[in-house]
Amino acid sequence: MKKRGNLGFVLVLGMALLLTACPAWSQNAHPQNLPQKAHSDADGLALTPPMGWYPWNIFGEEPQTEKLIKEIVDALVTSGLKDAGYAYVGPDEGICFSRGPDGKLTSNLTRYPSGLRGLGDYIHGKGLKYALYTDAGSKTCSTAMPGTKGYEFEDMRAFAEWRADYIKIDWCNSEGQDIVKTYTLLGEAQRAAGRPVVHSLCSWGEGYPWQWAGAIGHMWRTTSDICGPGKADWARAVRIAFANEKLSAFAGPGRWNDPDMMVVGMPGLSEVQNRSLFSLWCMMASPLIAGNDLRDMTRPTIDILTNLEAIAVDQDPLGAQGHVVWNDGNVSFWAGKPLFDGSRAVLVFYQGGHKFQQRIAWDEVGFGAADELYVRNLWTHETTGPHAGGVNVSVGSDDVAFLRISKKNEFPIPPILVADTYLVSLRAAGSRPEKLTGTVTVANKGSSDLPPWRVDPKSLPPWLSVAVTGSGKSQTFVNTVSTAGLKKGPYHVLVRADNVEPISGRPMSALYYDVDLEVVRNVRR
Ligand code: GLA
Repeated sequence: MKKRGNLGFVLVLGMALLLTACPAWSQNAHPQNLPQKAHSDADGLALTPPMGWYPWNIFGEEPQTEKLIKEIVDALVTSGLKDAGYAYVGPDEGICFSRGPDGKLTSNLTRYPSGLRGLGDYIHGKGLKYALYTDAGSKTCSTAMPGTKGYEFEDMRAFAEWRADYIKIDWCNSEGQDIVKTYTLLGEAQRAAGRPVVHSLCSWGEGYPWQWAGAIGHMWRTTSDICGPGKADWARAVRIAFANEKLSAFAGPGRWNDPDMMVVGMPGLSEVQNRSLFSLWCMMASPLIAGNDLRDMTRPTIDILTNLEAIAVDQDPLGAQGHVVWNDGNVSFWAGKPLFDGSRAVLVFYQGGHKFQQRIAWDEVGFGAADELYVRNLWTHETTGPHAGGVNVSVGSDDVAFLRISKKNEFPIPPILVADTYLVSLRAAGSRPEKLTGTVTVANKGSSDLPPWRVDPKSLPPWLSVAVTGSGKSQTFVNTVSTAGLKKGPYHVLVRADNVEPISGRPMSALYYDVDLEVVRNVRR
């Protein structure tokens, strides 16, 4: 497919509209003298884009309660989204805490009767990860909740006590604050709190976070909000995609451009538009944070959100963000997404009125002009080929051709990890020493077997040992507690496990789970 003209109308319109909200697009060169080392080098978190669900797009703040979040958590499991890799879930600006007279955050027990720790335990017990929300200024955007300003260390300790695994930090009510200094301080506070979390910066592109946020957190919003609560806006979502794609050079394992939570499955979009937006998010290696009501999804919405072949492009271990190679206003051609097995993802997005046909030539997508290649259609799940030199595609209005192209007639899915639980709770009632065990089983929904997970024994307290059993697609962490000599009281440890993806040889995002032990009486030696 050859370049057919200059940047088109849609792109120009999108740029013009976003320029007002976010005057950043001239500033997309890597800056000098700013820390560039991804923080994930140390914590091993978010080496592929985080996947999960957040309430804001569909609900706004008012209806968020423990009951609603638990219903969504249950729907996440039963709908199949959990098995497709969606893991981070929790309240967004859900009026879930306030600041007490002593300066400490306290759960809003009217809305969240189990408290925020209780909600976290419920989520961890389901094999999911706990996401919470706060703000870097004096108050959250609705002003209904306190921001972290002046309480950075205390608040991050509270989030750690509630056992959050992911914290989105908004930028409302931050007048007069230096954005880099503020988020740097919050990153330090998070690390000081001792619980590794995915740090999601939410300044809507303000302060050009792609230039510096990789050293502080794991993802950063690049644009203004994708919709107001309750209804998707197709044109706005497409504009956001075109703004976000320009920042592809800044993304990589542990550091992601975030074009906002998805609107797939929300009122206001057709099935074709849902499919296209999901493809764009996957092509851009965006965090896949669903924003629709998971309790009420059509079959096509579920099929789109759980399409493992599309998710494989998003979750690819190389972490490349695809980008627009050319755009004539109606047709945009996206490439620049090499995948871990040597294949490549390609996307053609058509916004014109009737069907569009074009040829994709292999030398345009990083292969040799005369290569004979196989083409996997990631939506029809059909493979054709080998095709010599290129392939013809035909795309309907608002639709995409989302393809994976390979020298081999096989299209492996990278690891997609799903746990039965992230919480082991054990109780020792007697004064005689005993051994207690609790297991965590982690399955890989991808297509390759994983080598055994590794837990560094030196990272464990003396009362706990962890053995990894099983092989192939499912492995179990057997946690054995020896209570001899333990004093009465609660014990806790966050266990970290690491693995290496066998095809690419790259480390996978570290896996963390909690082990709780309650010792009811002093135990003899
Ligand atoms: C900002 C964020 C949204 C959402 C709301 C909550 O607008 O960008 O994603 O968190 O705040 O008030």
